Amino acid sequence: AASTFEGERRVLLAAPRGYCAGVDRAVVAVEKALERYGPPVYVRKEIVHNRHVVDTLTEKGVIFVEEADEVPEEALLVFSAHGVSPQVKQTAADRNLQTIDATCPLVTKVHREAVRFAKDDREILLIGHDGHEEVEGTYGEAPEATTVVNNPEEARTVEVQNPDQLVWLSQTTLSVDETMEIVQILRERFPNLQDPPSDDICYATSNRQAAIKKISPESDLVIVVGSANSSNSVRLKEVALEHGAARAERVDFANQIDEAWFEDARTIGVTSGASVPEVLVDEVLRLLADYGYGEAAEVVTAEEDIVFSLPKEIRKALQDAG
Ligand code: F3S
Repeated sequence: AASTFEGERRVLLAAPRGYCAGVDRAVVAVEKALERYGPPVYVRKEIVHNRHVVDTLTEKGVIFVEEADEVPEEALLVFSAHGVSPQVKQTAADRNLQTIDATCPLVTKVHREAVRFAKDDREILLIGHDGHEEVEGTYGEAPEATTVVNNPEEARTVEVQNPDQLVWLSQTTLSVDETMEIVQILRERFPNLQDPPSDDICYATSNRQAAIKKISPESDLVIVVGSANSSNSVRLKEVALEHGAARAERVDFANQIDEAWFEDARTIGVTSGASVPEVLVDEVLRLLADYGYGEAAEVVTAEEDIVFSLPKEIRKALQDAG
């Protein structure tokens, strides 16, 4: 029966996919720190939420820790792309750690907004997922002024002190559509709710969602390459299902793909989260080719040319080294 499918099986490859500018910058910062200072380089939390990246850096001499107080005094500590609260920076300073801040500039932007709004006596509703490192960091900038709103249900019930001094901010890697739904619910309850000065959901998150939306209606199966703790990767799977993919699965590696998913699947959509190196997508495409899904047609919905300069601490160190 499989032979009747031959020649009809195809792959639609979403573009943009994979690495964003903030992830690229954070990973390169750690690699440069290793070159410049030699191992061990400590990194607080996963530098980016990707299994392969973390394993590869570990092999090269990076030691990942949960908190700054686990790092020996005066050692080198890198803060991850997701950002840190002021308390974490204080702990690092108290231990005389040398630090490199690899926080994505687009996360730093949200931190600044939180600080500024709190200073202006605004009350902040931070749309995002409790327990995610980015939310912990942003929340930590203004804990007295901030309440986290996780989902539409919480938007319906959240209590505020000051409905006329209210502003919303968000995590950078949420579902664009769900965030708009939450904002709408909040605005119905609090008509004077103020918008952030610019979108907090970043360009990479929204571009990857737009690309998979385009492909999903034609896909019998969508494969998202990305780790379970990667917010934007998990969102890609949800968006695919909401937009017509018959089935969607997230995998870290090609070897997690189950043959059974291919049953009745003629068109397979493929994408990857913002923390995923392209080699992992290549492996998936090779595996799909082995199953007769030979022709991968790239569907391009946007071009990205954003590049961030390296963290200033590492730029300076490289300069000093000549
Ligand atoms: Fe930054 Fe967005 Fe990537 S916030 S780290 S550009 S997913």
